[in-house]
Amino acid sequence: MSTGTGGNRDGFTSKFGIVAAAAGSAIGLGNIWRFPYVVGESGGGAFLLVYLSFVLLLGIPVMLSEFIIGRKAKRNTFGAFREIAPKTWWPIIGVMGIVAAFVILAFYSTIAGWTLHYVYLSFSNGFQGRDTAELTHMFELFQTSTFLPLFWQLIFITLTAAIILSGVKKGIEKYSKILMPFLLLLLITLSIRSVTLPGSFEGLVFLFKPDFGKLDSGVILGALGQAFFSLSIGMGALITYSSYFPDRTNLSNTAFEVSVADVIIAILAGIAIFPAMFSIGMLPEQGGAGLIFMVLPNVFLQIPGGYFISIAFFILLAIAALTSSISIMEVVVAFLTEEFNIKRKYATLVTAVSAAFVGLFCTLSWGAFKGITIGGKNIFDTLDFAASNILLPLGGLLIVVFVGWYMRNSDVKDEMSNNGLFKLRIYFIFRFLIRFIAPVAIAIIFLNAIGILRT
Ligand code: PHE
Repeated sequence: MSTGTGGNRDGFTSKFGIVAAAAGSAIGLGNIWRFPYVVGESGGGAFLLVYLSFVLLLGIPVMLSEFIIGRKAKRNTFGAFREIAPKTWWPIIGVMGIVAAFVILAFYSTIAGWTLHYVYLSFSNGFQGRDTAELTHMFELFQTSTFLPLFWQLIFITLTAAIILSGVKKGIEKYSKILMPFLLLLLITLSIRSVTLPGSFEGLVFLFKPDFGKLDSGVILGALGQAFFSLSIGMGALITYSSYFPDRTNLSNTAFEVSVADVIIAILAGIAIFPAMFSIGMLPEQGGAGLIFMVLPNVFLQIPGGYFISIAFFILLAIAALTSSISIMEVVVAFLTEEFNIKRKYATLVTAVSAAFVGLFCTLSWGAFKGITIGGKNIFDTLDFAASNILLPLGGLLIVVFVGWYMRNSDVKDEMSNNGLFKLRIYFIFRFLIRFIAPVAIAIIFLNAIGILRT
């Protein structure tokens, strides 16, 4: 049965299904893997503060804009812009989104593959009896090897494709609504252990005490990229998801709830990591992309029942990664099926195989291909930077300009109020943010970062 989304497109069914699916997209490796290491490299507290302001002032408005576009048009990212703005250049935002989706899928599956390997290590008691140096060495050996990381990456992409193939309702909704509360519980447990380790207090100081001397244009761009990546915004993942939302969904509340949940999980990940990191004598900027894989096993070894906790943690992290990666893959699959009339089966196959191909280069960035660098960054870091810090914010900029300046006001109001069902309480703040604050702020951050506008 159709759920008010019109036609015979698949749709989400329950209210919890909608929030859970959008939150499932947002909450993933971005919060638990990426957030801590970017905070570590960016100097801690001041970065956190900038990041939080970006989520509030730019992230939530972009997310709500994506919801408005998606539910209005009920089409894939590219088709949505063509539907609302026919015979214009706006659909180019959709093209950018599809490119970003590919790139992100490629490097995301690398890290998700590492997570699967750590599920295996946890099961086989692989951390037992090892000290900090050995745990780090073990990770680095794995990271620089060829076969194992590629194997796990392929498994992860296959799993993602399998869920995508089972369709929206049965697939996404089912998988995303059950397990996230458990992840929250485990993160709280890990945080408590982390802050009670000897010498851990400095870690909290690092995370929460702002040192504004550490902020420069690069760090600010990094905070913008992290906010966008973590919220899944700027490339149409949430346009695609909201195209399946029923008419009764309250878009503003959903955007707010999802963003708050996302931020809470990221901060908890920070509390689980930094105190533990200081406790084992590692410097915050030392971890790089391997940070959580090097630090967390030390925590598991010092917690009662650590064997089981580590198994549960890495399984749940892998599932959180899956509920995000399906939202990324769905962008491309919905595009191919709706715009080119390709069967869902083939669209998924083509997407998965191409992502695996690009992903191979990401995964080998520390090993076989470590010699290939661009401006000092390896392939993985280059693609991550290009997608997170450039494509997503640029996409977000265009999306808010589209909703703020191009779309009919009455359409925006109808979507926000569900055709007059609710009062438009935040409408004027939202409109002001998307017309002025967000575009200007994103533009300044960009110009600043490329050094045109030095303040
Ligand atoms: N937000 C996801 C995470 O934090 C990643 C993601 C980025 C998903 C962009 C969709 C679009 O892991």
